[in-house]
Amino acid sequence: MKRALTVWLDCIARGDSHLEAVRSAAESQASSPWEVVQNAGFLARCRPEVAERDIGLTRALKVRKPGGSGVIAHIEAGQQYPVPDHGGRRARGAFDTSAAMARETVAASLRASRIPVNSGLDPACGTGAFLVAMQEAGVPDIRGTDLDELALTVARVAVPGATIERRDALQPGDFMDLVVGNPPFVPPERQNKALRTRLRTRFPWLRGRFDLVIPFAAIATETCRPGGAVGLILPAASMVQNYGAPLRRRWVERHRVAVLDGPMPFPGAAVDVVRVVLCADDGPAEIADTKVHASALLALDHVPLVRTMAPGDIGLVDKVREVSVPLNSLARVDTGVVAHGVHGSKDRVIHAEEGPGRVPYADAREFFAGTHRWLDYNPARMHRAKTPELFNGPKIVLQRLRGSGPVRAAIDEQGIFVGHTCTVVAPNSDAVPLTRLLDLVRSPLSSGVLRVEKGSRLDLYPRDVGSFPVPKAWLSDPDMPLEEAWGLDARQASRLTQLGVGT
Ligand SMILES: C[S@@+](CC[C@H](N)C(=O)[O-])C[C@H]1O[C@@H](n2cnc3c(N)ncnc32)[C@H](O)[C@@H]1O
Repeated sequence: MKRALTVWLDCIARGDSHLEAVRSAAESQASSPWEVVQNAGFLARCRPEVAERDIGLTRALKVRKPGGSGVIAHIEAGQQYPVPDHGGRRARGAFDTSAAMARETVAASLRASRIPVNSGLDPACGTGAFLVAMQEAGVPDIRGTDLDELALTVARVAVPGATIERRDALQPGDFMDLVVGNPPFVPPERQNKALRTRLRTRFPWLRGRFDLVIPFAAIATETCRPGGAVGLILPAASMVQNYGAPLRRRWVERHRVAVLDGPMPFPGAAVDVVRVVLCADDGPAEIADTKVHASALLALDHVPLVRTMAPGDIGLVDKVREVSVPLNSLARVDTGVVAHGVHGSKDRVIHAEEGPGRVPYADAREFFAGTHRWLDYNPARMHRAKTPELFNGPKIVLQRLRGSGPVRAAIDEQGIFVGHTCTVVAPNSDAVPLTRLLDLVRSPLSSGVLRVEKGSRLDLYPRDVGSFPVPKAWLSDPDMPLEEAWGLDARQASRLTQLGVGT
């Protein structure tokens, strides 16, 4: 890194542009493609800034005192130095893959391919990690595209024999034998609105709050020649969240899922990732490592792709569903109030003291800590105002996002208006006592059912909570133990519990 940084600083000092300095830094490492990708690639993900005082820079380009520990370059006041562009990276979803992860993905994809691999593409190649991995693996015709000219400059030095061009990977391209990569993870709030609208027109099946990886992954698969392989690093959430369900269904219907690794951490990013390798047009088939066949998985609306599924899980859940009714047939299930909106921020309507027109209010953290504040409840002025009846009577309150943790739920009889970090279950019949419904939502057995149907995350939105299976037997005998009411034997109860506690 020291050499690449020194070359960059010298180039900038003599008046070269950032792009020229990045290219020279890459060329200084040309004898080792991985050093090009990692060191010059790191500089390509930076922007130049002028130092206001004398500083030292570490390998990770952290600013220290000149001469401080780990300092590899000294920058004088007034000189330009490279600053990691975290905001730009997040906006473009630019997180570069480690050598180990790129190599393993390329190797697994080559193993999964059923045709000889003559061509390989990374459609969002960035600084070229997957291109180097394909070069090492001996793929003859290597191609890379990206929108970021700085990153492409580095990739061209790392893999001089590859065809690398600035191109929008969301446009259809030539058929390839191998398509690999780590597409940009960009959640809806960071996406360009016009692009989102265009994508929805082109892929009418795109659903809800889709991440940009979904259309990228769909196009990557369409670009792969039948019998070839697609190997992608994707956010773990995309394999279980509702927005990914249409893509997962299309994949499982047509292609063979040859590898499903993870969730695993991705260095430098806050999200866990999975590695998915598909053999194009070789399905429906058994899902990698799970012994579950695509035809069984396709029976679930959500088509979750998780390694924890096992043969028999889906049949077990079918059995529970057959003898149950959904919770929302006995209760109104809705989200809490959104205490902010068109007329101002949350702080203007939530208060520490009681007052005229105010109702007791708690977000999930406060509710489960047994505290509350006071809310000016004014449905006409609030975003997503919910009717007061949802909160006034006895109800179950659940924390909405639990991830891999157990369900957190309690009964409220004090008329607390909970916020939208909670989901509320207000019974509209007294067929089953509220305490038994609370036992149901807190039971690891029912978490097990939801985790089979929706993947390992427990996101308890109203539609998820509304689907909790209430045993029909409870309508006449609510005291019957849950296992018995669902007709489970000891082995079945133990499997659902194991899934429910997330082991
Ligand atoms: C997560 S990075 C991955 C880079 C590289 N594949 C790797 O794994 O090291 C995603 C890349 O997608 C690129 N990108 C974003 N939108 C794109 C688009 N529409 N077409 C092509 N590339 C795009 C970004 O510039 C970024 O380099």
